[in-house]
Amino acid sequence: MTDPAQRPAAQHPPALQHPALQLRDVWLRLGREVILRGVNVDMAAGDGVTLLGENGAGKTTLLRLLASGLRPTRGEGRVMGFDLRDSRSVRDHIHLMPVDGGLYPDLTCEENLAFALRMHAHTGDADRAVAGALRRVGLEHAAGRRARFLSAGMRKRLALSRAWLLARPVTLVDEPFANLDDAGRALVQELLGELRAGGGTLVVAAHEPELARAVAPRALRLAGGQLLDAAQTVNA
Ligand SMILES: Nc1ncnc2c1ncn2[C@@H]1O[C@H](COP(=O)(O)OP(=O)(O)OP(=O)(O)O)[C@@H](O)[C@H]1O
Ligand SMILES: [Mg+2]
Repeated sequence: MTDPAQRPAAQHPPALQHPALQLRDVWLRLGREVILRGVNVDMAAGDGVTLLGENGAGKTTLLRLLASGLRPTRGEGRVMGFDLRDSRSVRDHIHLMPVDGGLYPDLTCEENLAFALRMHAHTGDADRAVAGALRRVGLEHAAGRRARFLSAGMRKRLALSRAWLLARPVTLVDEPFANLDDAGRALVQELLGELRAGGGTLVVAAHEPELARAVAPRALRLAGGQLLDAAQTVNA
C-alpha cells in the first residue's frame, strides 16, 4: 500500500463551476496540414478519457494543445476554467507526460523529480516525496543515474512517477503503455488509477484501448480531424 505521507498529493476539490477540460470548435493547422477540424469536447473533473485514433490522427497534437503548448488556429478552450491562451495558469493545473517521457537527460532520476516539484512550488519534505515516488516505480536503485542512461522502460517509469508525484488536477498521458513489460503496464494502470481516485482528470492517448479502459473508461476517437465518441465510429 502507498503511504500517503510520501506523496505531496494535491487532492482536488471537484471544480463545481467549471468542466476540467472544454474545447469549442477548435481548429488547428500545422504547416499546410489541418490537423483538427472543429473539435468540441467537455470533460468533467474526475473524468477518465481514452483518446484513440490511427497513427497521425492528431492525438499527440491534441494533448499538446490542451497543455497550452500549441495555440488553436480557430476556436477556444479552457482547462479548469482557465483560457488556453493563459498558458501560465493552464500549466499550473495540467501535466503532460509525453511519449518520450519529457525528462531532462542530464539530470539524475531524483533530480528530475525534485526539479518538477520545485517548478510547482512544492512545500514539504521533497527528498522524502522523491524517494517514495522512485520506490513506487521500482527505480530506487537508479536514483542517482542520469535519465539519458536509463532504458526506454525505465524512462517511462520515471516519467510516470513524476506525473503521480505532481498529481495535477488534469494529467495528460501520451502512450503510457509503450516500452513497458507486463509489470510496468500494471504499474501504469495502478498509478493513473490513483490519480483519478484522488479526483484528478485523466486523458490517455493509447493504441491499447483494453489496457487504457481500466483507468479511462470513456473512449473518444480522433479521425479526419474530428473527435467523436468511439462508440459512434466504425472500427471502435
Ligand atoms: N510540428 C508539426 N508540423 C507539421 N505537422 C505536424 C507537426 N506535428 C505533427 N504534425 C502532423 O500532425 C499529424 C498528427 O500528428 P500526431 O503526432 O498528433 O498524431 P498521433 O495521433 O499522435 O499519431 P501516433 O499514433 O503515431 O502517435 C501528422 O500528420 C503529423 O505529421
Ligand atoms: Mg502520438
